[in-house]
Amino acid sequence: MCGIVGYIGNKNATEIVLNGLKKLEYRGYDSAGISMITGGKLETYKKKGKIVNLENAYDFSSKISNVAIAHTRWATHGEPSEVNAHPHVSSDGKISVVHNGIVENYLELRNKLQEKGFTFKSQTDTEIIPNVISDNYDGDLLKAVIKAHKVLRGSFALGIISSDEKDRLVALRDSSPLLLAILEDGYMIASDITSVIEHTNKLIFLKDGDIVDIKKDSYKIYDSDGNEVDREVTEVDYTDESASKEGYDHFLLKEIHEQPKAIEKAISLRHNDYVLNDNEDIFTKEELKDIEKIYISACGTAFHAGEVGKYAIESLAKIPVISEIASEFRYKNMFLDEKSLVIFVSQSGETADTLAALKEAKRLGAKTLAITNVLGSTITRDADKVIYCYAGPEISVASTKAYTTQLIALYFVAMRIAKAKGQIDDADIKNIIEALEKIPAQIDEILKDKENFKEIAMEIKDSNSIFYTGRLLDFITAKEGALKLKETSYIHTEAFPSGELKHGSIALIEPGTPVITVATQSKITEKTISNNQELIARGAKVISITNRGNDFVKDASTNLVEIPKTLDILTPLLAVIPEQLIAYYTSLSLGNDVDKPRNLAKSVTVE
Ligand code: G6P
Repeated sequence: MCGIVGYIGNKNATEIVLNGLKKLEYRGYDSAGISMITGGKLETYKKKGKIVNLENAYDFSSKISNVAIAHTRWATHGEPSEVNAHPHVSSDGKISVVHNGIVENYLELRNKLQEKGFTFKSQTDTEIIPNVISDNYDGDLLKAVIKAHKVLRGSFALGIISSDEKDRLVALRDSSPLLLAILEDGYMIASDITSVIEHTNKLIFLKDGDIVDIKKDSYKIYDSDGNEVDREVTEVDYTDESASKEGYDHFLLKEIHEQPKAIEKAISLRHNDYVLNDNEDIFTKEELKDIEKIYISACGTAFHAGEVGKYAIESLAKIPVISEIASEFRYKNMFLDEKSLVIFVSQSGETADTLAALKEAKRLGAKTLAITNVLGSTITRDADKVIYCYAGPEISVASTKAYTTQLIALYFVAMRIAKAKGQIDDADIKNIIEALEKIPAQIDEILKDKENFKEIAMEIKDSNSIFYTGRLLDFITAKEGALKLKETSYIHTEAFPSGELKHGSIALIEPGTPVITVATQSKITEKTISNNQELIARGAKVISITNRGNDFVKDASTNLVEIPKTLDILTPLLAVIPEQLIAYYTSLSLGNDVDKPRNLAKSVTVE
């Protein structure tokens, strides 16, 4: 949520940060801005909308500089506008700041600063920061930042430059992600790897409270009291596969099509000849055996993956699992102790709600396991154990390949726990892995059916509301389908357990209302069919996603999407693919920005 990038060194900082910023646009895209010191002066340029608007509005070719900071925003305080865009500059025009996070005590600080004569132009919380720094400034930017940090409450990743100290970039990390990158001829700060990796793989993942003082040819890191600290330089093994759409019109479509390969990799790394291997540093068999309670927590699509994980662990390991939305987890009574395992699922590894829940789980003494897609993300440092999705970079805001590879990771976690608890044997594991291995080819088959998904998109695109239904695992897939469609099409969607419709929601059905029903679970298909009939009787258009050859569902549907057969427990991997494609083609037919839907951001680093 908001991306920040900065550079200081011998090259042209303006060019480097603008390029880096484009890689961060997935974090927010309602406005963008840059400050640089050029011709001895601090200059700031901002524009509402995407980075391209900023680039088109100004000619940056003459803005040669050795130090610059830039920002792409997802609004929290204050509407998206030029005045609310970052960087924000102190009222004396000398200190410029880019910020990712929130200042919780900004109103109180603003009143105090106004009494001292500081003035404010924007509605943002961030504009407080350059002014608090300015208030504490007596010729040393680093010292002023250390002092300012002590009065600011909230979460911060900051890049700060000043016209009084032209060869200096100060950065701070406190509860929002920030890394320092060591280049051959300078240094960068950035919200994540993607914006720096074309220049270097030498990174320092800053810790909370770290303040970095960077000059053109040296840097020092301090803790929040100003004591110098040592931080390890990590050489990451990361290639930037995200650069191009590889012939696809959108990242969303490309990422949907990348699922077979990503899933294949995520499966093959986790077993040798159908025997679970130790490639991942997960808890030992003994530790897993002792676990009495399991919780799963996450946000958005990752939460739906967690709910499938809950179902898989309960079915295979026969142990109850509680799934809890991360933003609720932190404030609820969670009965955790050292015999509890909490699994956190997060594509980005930076979601503030998930990280806060993780902190709480650790405070209560639980064991924590993170499932993430992003190497070096904050969650990888905060959780006791980490496993990766191996999906490759996911750029589209609507998550697809991260979701299906999260499912793979969770199925393997479920098998490991079940094995440790003595609930499944090697033959059961082999059976599941064999079925998993067929999934990539089965997804390829579904992907070929795109004309059908295009037609469905045309049929539903003008609806006011679209409902999704299903039972058990199908209900989770229904929720993911509803989320995918609403975030990309802006049509109101909602998912209901099929059996619950008659208790109220069926009142919403009018002639022609589209209802997408997921009916893959053999033990309850008949019940779902009855619910479909109830919908059809009230005029609904029922589009069913079901296993191939399921003629009874066909008879109880107005439109059918067939998916190949797999084990009941694995159907979420297949049933979600039509949902993703329906969302893609609906968004496309409505002329929406498919990869960057309105109001959203891929990485949400505020609570
Ligand atoms: C945002 C994204 C969603 C994502 C959720 C959780 O809301 O738009 O696509 O599912 O955050 O993100 P995470 O990175 O923790 O999986």
